[in-house]
Amino acid sequence: MASSSRTKLVHVCSECGTSHPKWAGRCSGCGDWNTLVEDVETGGSDQPAVPSSRPGPTLIGDVGTDTGHPVSTSIEELDRVLGGGIVAGSVTLLGGEPGIGKSTLLLQLLATWKGPTLYVSAEESAQQVKLRAERLNADHSNLWLHAETSLPHILDAIEQTRPEVVVIDSIQTVNDPSLASLSGSVGQVRGCAQRLVNVAKEQNISIILVGHVTKDGSLAGPRVLEHIVDTVLQFEGDRHHSLRLLRASKHRFGSTNELGLFEMATTGLIGVPDPSSLFLADRRTGVPGSAVVPTMEGQRPIVVEVQVLANAGIAGVPPRRSAQGLDSGRLSMLLAVLGRRSRVPAADQDIYASTAGGVKLSEPGLDLGVCLAAVSAIRDQPLPADVAVFGEVGLGGELRQVGHAARRLTEASRLGFSRVIVPSNSPESDANIRLIRAATLSEAIAAAGLGANAPISELRAI
Ligand code: TYD
Ligand code: MG
Repeated sequence: MASSSRTKLVHVCSECGTSHPKWAGRCSGCGDWNTLVEDVETGGSDQPAVPSSRPGPTLIGDVGTDTGHPVSTSIEELDRVLGGGIVAGSVTLLGGEPGIGKSTLLLQLLATWKGPTLYVSAEESAQQVKLRAERLNADHSNLWLHAETSLPHILDAIEQTRPEVVVIDSIQTVNDPSLASLSGSVGQVRGCAQRLVNVAKEQNISIILVGHVTKDGSLAGPRVLEHIVDTVLQFEGDRHHSLRLLRASKHRFGSTNELGLFEMATTGLIGVPDPSSLFLADRRTGVPGSAVVPTMEGQRPIVVEVQVLANAGIAGVPPRRSAQGLDSGRLSMLLAVLGRRSRVPAADQDIYASTAGGVKLSEPGLDLGVCLAAVSAIRDQPLPADVAVFGEVGLGGELRQVGHAARRLTEASRLGFSRVIVPSNSPESDANIRLIRAATLSEAIAAAGLGANAPISELRAI
């Protein structure tokens, strides 16, 4: 037996993985409170193995660039988030709440992959996985299944099947008996992940680790996991709705701005190629408190409806503010600007703001939409049905241009909008849509026909 080496009791931070000889209320590594848990440490055995033959330094001109190209997964929405596909030898962590569809997405990925793949199920039996694969019409001949939780056996299975892509579902249920830490502990999760990362790099295999998330949305276990992998993906959504959002919070091979959208159907996850139409499907026109914004998610324009409900607050009680899908701090700031710069009486109103469907968005181009929806709600007057708006609102009440104006306008035009209120210096566009320019929030309010003293504006007359 190898582990006769000395073991000692330590206290490890469940957030950042820092090891402390004594218990303390606060972690000295990350500063979080009450995160230290008891663990055992063997003489350095959960340290990453150092490869024996290390390459020396290379002149940058001699470094080959033919590795690191992403290989398409044939799942378009996943490729979008990953910047084209999966890079050989990369390690990805996929986080998400239970039941959101992580296993489904990864099974679909492996089943459609052209080369051999291995799905390690450390939570479900091979029969359960097979049944799911049948439901997805994804019973692929190159897909190996292995229901196993012990890391040495998993490594043997990788050796035997020589897969191009491996899924470990989930990393929290895998354990390595050679590590002294208890199964499921921080030390185990970190040690197992580190060994898998080494295997991925040494054998040029892409590995995807599934990670459970806690209620507040962060990955359970040490944050250290996020540091040792190349890519961290989050799968989000409301379990009561079928829409699922995939985002990268870290990506060594590309941007983290892109949003992937899926719908959970009875035959698995289906990509949503036209999210604008989906988000506008339930929109009712002529209702006060609604504004339509062509917003940007990475390189993709998405037209969404922003809704605001305003209600006279109770005198003496601080007004209620609620933001769903929008940043609540930004909402407060915009309401303050409306009050101070445009004399819209927002201060004593209860304000509830939401993106239609509650999809989380944060982008400066939404500002003008939030403001006009709020004015529309407070004054109980709808915006014209064919008008969309976008622009950033500054603290002085000025409107500032935002990026990708042309793409926003083309998307708004495609969806049938004929006029767009934009900041005055927003670039010209080829799209078949009329630009209404406004330098300030007050000008935009007037242009939308929502002015306090000028209800009959250019727009209302149409
Ligand atoms: P699953 O992939 O098991 O989620 P996770 O691995 O993130 O825990 O998916 C769970 C839910 O998805 C489950 O409640 C059933 C539903 N589902 C469908 O609606 N359609 C399908 O084709 C499949 C496979 C699952
Ligand atoms: Mg699962």
